[in-house]
Amino acid sequence: MEKPTLQRENWGSRLGFIMAAAGSAIGLGNIWRFPYLAGSNGGSAFIIIYLGFVFFICLSIMLAELAIGRRSGLAAVGAYKSSSDNWTFAGVLGVLSAFFIMGFYPVVGGWALAYVFKSFTGLLAAPAALGDVFGGFITNPVQPLMWMAVFLIANVVIVAKGVSGGIEKACKILMPALFGILVIIAIKGLTLPGSSAGLAFLFKPDWSLVTGQTFLAALGQAFFSLSLGMGCMITYGSYLKKNENLPGSAFIITAMDTSAAILAGLAMFPALFAFGMEPAAGPGLVFVVVPAIFAEFGGAGVIFSAIFFVALVFAALTSSVSLLEVVVAYLMDQKKMERKKSVYISSAVMVVLCVLASLSLGVMSGVTLLGVGAFDFFDILTDKIFLTIGGLLLAVFVGWFVKKEDLRDELTNGGAVQFGLFELWYNLIKYVIPVAIGIIAFMGIKSITQTGLMIFGLLIIVVMAIFSKKL
Ligand code: PHE
Repeated sequence: MEKPTLQRENWGSRLGFIMAAAGSAIGLGNIWRFPYLAGSNGGSAFIIIYLGFVFFICLSIMLAELAIGRRSGLAAVGAYKSSSDNWTFAGVLGVLSAFFIMGFYPVVGGWALAYVFKSFTGLLAAPAALGDVFGGFITNPVQPLMWMAVFLIANVVIVAKGVSGGIEKACKILMPALFGILVIIAIKGLTLPGSSAGLAFLFKPDWSLVTGQTFLAALGQAFFSLSLGMGCMITYGSYLKKNENLPGSAFIITAMDTSAAILAGLAMFPALFAFGMEPAAGPGLVFVVVPAIFAEFGGAGVIFSAIFFVALVFAALTSSVSLLEVVVAYLMDQKKMERKKSVYISSAVMVVLCVLASLSLGVMSGVTLLGVGAFDFFDILTDKIFLTIGGLLLAVFVGWFVKKEDLRDELTNGGAVQFGLFELWYNLIKYVIPVAIGIIAFMGIKSITQTGLMIFGLLIIVVMAIFSKKL
């Protein structure tokens, strides 16, 4: 019998790719994290800075990631490595980031899943107790772990089915559903009396709360939200056909992600202000304040609450599959491992990290590393350090180590599509973005409170640069 030649998987259609990439981008970052970051960093001042970063830095990076992914036909590590072994570490940093993000992401995904069911079992009956309910739930040693496991199994099932048969198929259903739900909830919120205070909060800036940290938080969030700086878009780009229009796709994905974040804000803040609640409630915002809003809706509240958390689960799932895929694609490309086996091995490691993260909020809250528990450790390390530095490395790599003509060729499909902004994009990637990220990272890192963690994160990167050539 003839041995089948290993052919790279492809997206089935352009729409399928866009849905999968937007699915990766739109996630807990948009619905769970963006609102509380905005809430605690000056509301719309944060949002304006965030939007600036998205369109002046991240859009260009997204395009660069898709381009080198498609050009090399390889996932994160391979795409760097095919240029030079000296760059392997930048890809490895991405794989490591995927592991660490998957160390807490499924925990929150599990909370969302639990809240779908809790919505039906009396969650809204005692609005005053919502904070305690949430606190009690996430610190419980067993329950959140069970929900996390269910969430992670869904990831395993989807990713094991492959790029177009699993990831693309799931995202094509889940993404439109997610947008539909957010629109319905936003309309409901905007029609409540007193909701305009929420709009003011979202769109009228308070610059007095802006510090160096705000910029780093906004940049980290922009990278996190767009799934950048860790090889995810390189990996998704590697499954793209040669005739897809890259600049157009990058713009659509970025615009969809930004709309989802704003939409999530519109689904939450107007209603929140209408009922006189506090926006700056930290990571619990979505799980405490949102159900409290729905409790005010009367009988329909249960349904609104359930569909809101369904949306959160969908958003989280289409993102976590992309994180898992980054690791799986690395094992398949570089270690020649078979898909299913790669999925099982990587998710087994992720389970261990998730258990640590979940328990760090409860029974293991006394166990800290460099001053933080496992959950915060994974979160801060990735979003404040690894993704930002990952984005910086990518810009330097593409700007200085890939031939300009190769890039032009890739972005225009060999001259077949127009990309009038090529020169602007190239200069941004080569000069402006590395300097901008450098300044923001420096300012932010200087004013960050977890100094030990910062130094540790930077050390990991240096150590990897020295030792990970062969990975
Ligand atoms: N973009 C996802 C979110 O906003 C998270 C993510 C980060 C996914 C990095 C993939 C890679 O939730």
